[in-house]
Amino acid sequence: MDLLKKRIVEDGTVLPGNVLKVDNFLNHQVDSQLMDKIGVEFARLFKNEKITKVVTVESSGIAPALTTAIHLGVPLIFARKHKSLTLTDNLYTASVYSYTKQVSNDISVDKRFLNAGDRILIIDDFLANGQAVQGLLEIAKLANVSVAGIGIVIEKSFQKGHTLIEKSGVRLESLARIASLSDGKVTFVD
Ligand code: G4P
Ligand code: NA
Ligand code: NA
Repeated sequence: MDLLKKRIVEDGTVLPGNVLKVDNFLNHQVDSQLMDKIGVEFARLFKNEKITKVVTVESSGIAPALTTAIHLGVPLIFARKHKSLTLTDNLYTASVYSYTKQVSNDISVDKRFLNAGDRILIIDDFLANGQAVQGLLEIAKLANVSVAGIGIVIEKSFQKGHTLIEKSGVRLESLARIASLSDGKVTFVD
């Protein structure tokens, strides 16, 4: 998606540790018009997949997931993050390890919101090591729902997540694919 790549080049900042800061349009201030166009693009890519729900993880996934859900005409569910809970009978829960923060958190979705027969589209803002997506795939399995695909706004193709999803066989569509953030410079795949 050229508009998104242009925005990354113009407004993104590369921080030490291969981190791309995009808090002026995606992760803190949200460019609502750009988010709408991202939703239109994901909806176009997955329009023939008979999707019944869009699923993401709070918090930064919610903006692109919501616009996608609007353009597909389906509900959005965001998994909630929390420390391990004791009362989980009514929840589908997966543990998500963050390499960046070196902590595990649980993410969960109330059982009422995923039902047999649902066909979900997973959306997230970033794909790095793929642990958040992996957690959502685990929840989909627990809930016995099918996964039509995964839509990512910004993929860091040089980290583990891309390969991990490829191995799972689930369709992956990333709107911007970053090959490298070396020397403070953004280089895209292709
Ligand atoms: P992953 O395995 O889920 O791919 O993520 P990882 O633990 O590597 O990264 C932890 C958090 O940092 C995730 O957000 C992820 O989206 C985000 N992240 C990873 N690389 C980058 C980057 O280069 N730039 C930015 N801006 N974010 C990055 P989170 O803390 O789980 O989610 P949220 O609370 O921000 O929604
Ligand atoms: Na994030
Ligand atoms: Na996210």
